[in-house]
Amino acid sequence: MRKKRKLKSEAGALTRRDFLKGAGVTVSGGLLATGAVTTAQAAAQEGVVGPGPVPITLRINGRVHRLSLEPRITLLDALRDHLNITGSKKVCDRATCGACTMLMDKKPVYACTVLAIEAEGHDITTIESLTENGRLSPVMEAFWKNDAQQCGFCTPGFVMACTAFLEKNPNPTLEQIEKGLGGNLCRCGTYAGIRRAVLEAAKAMKGGQANG
Ligand code: FES
Ligand code: FES
Repeated sequence: MRKKRKLKSEAGALTRRDFLKGAGVTVSGGLLATGAVTTAQAAAQEGVVGPGPVPITLRINGRVHRLSLEPRITLLDALRDHLNITGSKKVCDRATCGACTMLMDKKPVYACTVLAIEAEGHDITTIESLTENGRLSPVMEAFWKNDAQQCGFCTPGFVMACTAFLEKNPNPTLEQIEKGLGGNLCRCGTYAGIRRAVLEAAKAMKGGQANG
């Protein structure tokens, strides 16, 4: 199993506390300098990485990408700024709107608040993977047919959230759809179209007729 790498900030707090506890004396400038050395040594011993770039391997839509990134880089920024995979949008950048939603091991995550380094060893799926030879996925097609977008900024996130939702709930009620998609916001207010699209996609995925 993949060994979790520690970030420098995690180890720094622990080691500073340990150092001050162990010292048990008045903290002077000299002691702080000694403490910094101790922190760096302890960080190296504990396998702490950063703050400079480190090798990070990401598996995105079935393809392996090797990168060199600072551990503070989010999964969203790694894809958008370093791999030119820009389907997932950056809107709030603080786990509020869901525009950046992608799937990690088939579960929806806000990619703006997952670090790229934390995504190592997981399967990442983005909106780019949902079309095959120019053919839209059932969820995408239902969005298009039901006018479930206006400006489109929230749409990739909603499509990914709906895809994961239908995987878990193939026969959803309207109430379940409202609750299940509560983590995504549409500032244009296309919720009615999105709910219709989810119902239609559910039907299409079972081989039923779309409402058209
Ligand atoms: S951009 Fe990630 S939740 Fe809004
Ligand atoms: S379509 Fe504009 S934010 Fe949803």
